Amino acid sequence: MSVVILAIESSCDDTAAAVIVDGQVKSNILADQKVHALYGGVVPELASRAHQANIVPVVDAALKQSGVSADQLSAIAFTRGPGLMGSLMVGVAFAKGLALSHHIPLIEVHHLHAHVLAHFAEPPVPEFPFLCLLVSGGHTQILLVRDHLQLEVLGSTTDDAAGEAFDKAGKLMGLGYPAGPLIDHHARSGKPVFDFPHPQLPDFQFSFSGIKTSIRYFLQDQMARDQDFIQKHLADLCASIQHHIVEILLEKLILAARNTGIRNVTIAGGVSANSRLRERLEEVGQIEGWQTFVPQMAYSTDNAAMIGIAGYYKYQAGQFTDLSVKPMARIPLNG
Ligand code: KG4
Ligand code: ZN
Repeated sequence: MSVVILAIESSCDDTAAAVIVDGQVKSNILADQKVHALYGGVVPELASRAHQANIVPVVDAALKQSGVSADQLSAIAFTRGPGLMGSLMVGVAFAKGLALSHHIPLIEVHHLHAHVLAHFAEPPVPEFPFLCLLVSGGHTQILLVRDHLQLEVLGSTTDDAAGEAFDKAGKLMGLGYPAGPLIDHHARSGKPVFDFPHPQLPDFQFSFSGIKTSIRYFLQDQMARDQDFIQKHLADLCASIQHHIVEILLEKLILAARNTGIRNVTIAGGVSANSRLRERLEEVGQIEGWQTFVPQMAYSTDNAAMIGIAGYYKYQAGQFTDLSVKPMARIPLNG
């Protein structure tokens, strides 16, 4: 008998649903929420309202596209957290209702665990154990992944996440939200000519809050001399900020690989869509003798297929969730 999982992701500002049959992605639907761009960041109340409006059509589209009907489902996987409480609540309540009405089990999934397992959505898949640099809008961590369900956090950010550093730097330059993809775009025609101070943290720890402050002072200084500094130097500014963030990430990843002796190295999360990070991972991997793995774009940023893949492995391990489950805005990742 096939294992058919319907997956629901609603942790932030994307409403997503996917159908996974025996670990294979059959559909992966996403409705993003343009409304937040007007405010320069995600507005939680607007996000949860948009999830309410989107969830039925998105789940419907995921089922239709997969050719699976609701009564063929084996289980429903959903994001329990971390994320925005109001957003998570919509996905969790919907998953519960559907599981109850179809008499099928629920499987809670940790959003970051799912980002790591996005590597199992399509071949080539990494061999265990592997390292994963998990870089999203809310988290930055280096993980040691022993198997599908066993992850160890080697190091994390002590303040902002890498994606947040991109987004805040973009805001200072007057770019829209999220700024990560926009900085990536503008950086293509620029050079990393501007320098910012490099944080010195022990082991595999990161810090990104100082970058935002140094960029702010740098821009203030330059604009006191030339009002149009940002417009004139946008491409070089973007290339410099991107270079700076990417090199900080790689420095720690190299350290983790050398210390653990692990040669299978992956990146995951929204910032893993960054073209410079992808390029540099490849270059550094050649020098260090790594096997590198980068998820396809559709599986880098938030999506429901990764929730379904995590749900599939939890299903195989018999890890089901009670109907009394509540969403959690913060949950530690310990497998
Ligand atoms: O994983 P994700 O989709 O959502 C969270 O779980 O947070 O990550 C979103 C983050 C945002 O900060 C966004 O600016 C960043 O990923 N991002 C990028 C790129 N695409 C998305 N950052 C740099 N370059 C990109 N191409
Ligand atoms: Zn995410």
